[in-house]
Amino acid sequence: MTHRITLIPGDGIGPEVVGAARRVIEATGVSIQWEEINAGGEALKRYGKLLPEELLEAIKRNKVALKGPITTQVAEGFPSLNVRLRKMFDLYANFRPIKNLPNVPCRFGDLDLIVVRENTEDLYAGLEHEVVPGVVESLKIITEKASTRIARFAFDYARQHHRREICAIHKANIMKLSDGLFLNCVRAVAQEYSDVKYRELIVDNTCMQLVMNPQQFDILLLENLYGDIISDLGAGLIGGLGLVPGANIGIDGAIFEAVHGSAPDIAGKGIANPTAVMLTSVLMLEYLKESEAARRLQNAIEQVYREGKHLTRDVGGRATTEEFTDAVVKAISAP
Ligand code: NAI
Repeated sequence: MTHRITLIPGDGIGPEVVGAARRVIEATGVSIQWEEINAGGEALKRYGKLLPEELLEAIKRNKVALKGPITTQVAEGFPSLNVRLRKMFDLYANFRPIKNLPNVPCRFGDLDLIVVRENTEDLYAGLEHEVVPGVVESLKIITEKASTRIARFAFDYARQHHRREICAIHKANIMKLSDGLFLNCVRAVAQEYSDVKYRELIVDNTCMQLVMNPQQFDILLLENLYGDIISDLGAGLIGGLGLVPGANIGIDGAIFEAVHGSAPDIAGKGIANPTAVMLTSVLMLEYLKESEAARRLQNAIEQVYREGKHLTRDVGGRATTEEFTDAVVKAISAP
C-alpha cells in the first residue's frame, strides 16, 4: 500500500533534518508518496501566506504529515504557526517519548518516560490583551472536555502498552479553578482504569524530582505549558533536543514533529542532529501500521549509536548530518 504523506520541511535546520528523515524512511522500503508544501517564511514567499490553503488542504486530505520546526517571531502579531496547526486540526494529544540512546553522554541512564501534553488550550489559547497601559492579561483556558480527552488518551496508551504509572502534574494549590478542573477530570478518568497506577505531583516539585531522580517517572500527564517546559527538561536529561521525537495526534489525523525548534544557531551548517526527526518517523510508521519498517528504522538508529562512530557534535561526535544519515541508511540496508 502507498501512503500519501504531507511533508512540511519548515525552516532553520528543518529542511536538513526532515530531508535526512525522508532518506531513512525511504531506505526502509515503505511506499510513500510525499506531498511537499511548506509553511512559514518560505511559504509566504511562494504562496503569499504563512499557512497556504494548499497546505491545509493537503493535511486534511492526507491525514498524516511529517513536519520540520518553524521559527516563531517574538514580535506581537506573529502567532505561532505550530500552535495554530495543532489547534486548527484539533491535534489534542502531544506525545513525546524520552528514552536514552547508547553512547550519549548524559547524567542518567535507564530513562524511559513519556510526556503526554494537552495540545489545544491553556495559556497557548493565545488570548492576550492590554487592560490598561502597563497591565496585560493572558487567559489560561482549561476545559473539562480537553482535560478529559487528554487523560483518556494517556490512560488508554498506558493500558495498551503496559506502562507502570501515570503521574498528573499540576499547580492546583495555586490555580485552584483551572488546574483544579484539570485534576478533577484526570481523577475521574483514572477511576475507570484501576489497572493503571496513578499519582499526582506539583509542577515545581516535579522539576526538582526530574533532575534528581528521573527514573521514578513513567508517563507524565500535563497541561500545555507545563508539558512544553518539561519536554525540554526531559530532553536535557537524555542528552539534548536532537534526540526527542514527538507526535501531535487527533481523532482523524496526526502531525509528526520533533520536540526541538528551528535551531537558528546551527542552521545551514550541516551539523544538526536528525535523530529526533528520525525517531519521530518511527512513531509515524507505527501510526501507519508499518510496524516492521518502524522496528528496522529504530534498530538501525540504535545500532549507529551503539557503534558510536558517526555521531553528531551535540552528542559528542564529529559527524555531519549527512554522515550520520548515511550510517543509518547503511544500517537499515545491512542484511
Ligand atoms: P531550539 O529547539 O531551536 O534550540 C535550542 C538549542 O538546542 C539550540 O542550541 C540548538 O542548536 C539545539 N538544538 C535543537 N535541535 C537540535 C538538533 N536537532 N541538533 C542539534 N542541536 C539542536 O529552541 P529555540 O532556539 O528556543 O527556538 C528557535 C525557534 O524555533 C523559535 O522561533 C521557536 O519558536 C521555534 N520552535 C519551533 C518549534 C516547532 O516548530 N515545533 C518547537 C520549538 C521552538
